[in-house]
Amino acid sequence: MEYRTIIEPFRIHSVEPLRLTTEEQRRAAIDAVGLNLFGLHADDVLIDLLTDSGTGAMSRDQWAAIQHGDESYAGSPSWYVFLEAVQELFPFRHVIPTHQGRAAEKILFTAIGGPSKVVPNNTHFDTTRANIEFSGAQAVDMPIAEALEPSLVHPFKGNIDVVALERLLAERPGDVPVVMVTITNNSGGGQPVSLANMRAVRDVCNRHGVPLFLDACRFAENAWFVHEREEGQSGRSVAEIVREFASLADGMTMSAKKDPLANIGGWLACNDDDLAARCRALLVLTEGFPTYGGLAGRDLEAIAQGLREAVDHEYLRYRIRSTAYLGEALARAEIPVVQPIGGHAVYLDARALLSHVPPLEYPGQALAVELYVAGGIRGCEIGTVMFGRQADGSERPAAMDLVRLAIPRRTYTQSHIDYVIEVCIEVGRRAPELRGLRIVEEPETLRHFTARFEPIA
Ligand SMILES: Cc1ncc(COP(=O)(O)O)c(C=O)c1O
Repeated sequence: MEYRTIIEPFRIHSVEPLRLTTEEQRRAAIDAVGLNLFGLHADDVLIDLLTDSGTGAMSRDQWAAIQHGDESYAGSPSWYVFLEAVQELFPFRHVIPTHQGRAAEKILFTAIGGPSKVVPNNTHFDTTRANIEFSGAQAVDMPIAEALEPSLVHPFKGNIDVVALERLLAERPGDVPVVMVTITNNSGGGQPVSLANMRAVRDVCNRHGVPLFLDACRFAENAWFVHEREEGQSGRSVAEIVREFASLADGMTMSAKKDPLANIGGWLACNDDDLAARCRALLVLTEGFPTYGGLAGRDLEAIAQGLREAVDHEYLRYRIRSTAYLGEALARAEIPVVQPIGGHAVYLDARALLSHVPPLEYPGQALAVELYVAGGIRGCEIGTVMFGRQADGSERPAAMDLVRLAIPRRTYTQSHIDYVIEVCIEVGRRAPELRGLRIVEEPETLRHFTARFEPIA
């Protein structure tokens, strides 16, 4: 007998208390930090869906692995455990550990970016874009057209537009140091990239002699979607699919705070000996010796064990199903969400829900603030606040105004999610009364982290 209910394939071993607050307390807390959810004390948040980055629960076996951590400065046994686990899935010749994903990006684009260069991606994550632009290069997003229609259902909305990519490579020979593909496409709704698309990108890169790198933070969730949705893939293991993605690339950046199930860590990997030597020289300047990067030996051990757990089919079935559970319930309640439901998060379409608020009045931020005030839920605006400021200082609406409810791995139970559904429905009811916001203070880059807002009268 196969039962319908997909249960959490674990039980809880250690608990963290949550602090209940009133709507008045939350209103005061968010006003005090200029309506920026990143400014809150996390104790004032009830259900924290700000990010799935580093916020997951580690397993018993990961905590046990931490006890094996060896803190030798050079050549630690923990480094070899880490290296073997990484190369088991991503058999690149060089693996360079970093303290998190953006450190890998900083090193990569310091080595290969620079003025006059342009770097395409399905959609750059904000730190990737910021690191490319900081080097003086231009970051270009090339998602397929379907990716920009939130309500449209397509199995691989993370795919890159191969025709646009080929055009760019033909028009700018010598200016593209690398093509990036982000799996899954976080900023585009947590949507997967198909193997067929990855193979097509590889062909284009071969024709133009340009290397191809994966931003592989959510490689296991992407591979699960390939396993479930792509013709001819259901008989293969997720690990095999991951290895095929890696075999089609020349290198990768990784944040181990996502699918590798760790609370910190990352790496940069590649096959090019010369590039690896330049990156290691940069690594030593800011991260540390090449056998630990910015990490402790115990972190390397936790990541190695996490990588083994990340490709487990029972875990992935539960993970993807529980995200869909939230998204499907909201869609049934007529809260507009990006379709189909992505791997690590549900994306509310704030531009549709708050259609009376123009994009330059930040409907995503207004909605995220109200979710917090109404129910203590912290989501993250992915829209005009995050992407609206252009390199030349001007501001334009982002392609979409979304609020991402990211689900930390193995952390919240179904009743927490039922509560989130109830709060979202209440906020949907209040939506016509919500007002837009204006920015009163912002930094030069990555403004969403520290900008302050006020309501427009
Ligand atoms: C697709 C993607 N790339 C890169 C990063 C950066 O990783 P980190 O936060 O570890 O610096 C993230 C983090 O959320 C991400 O989602």
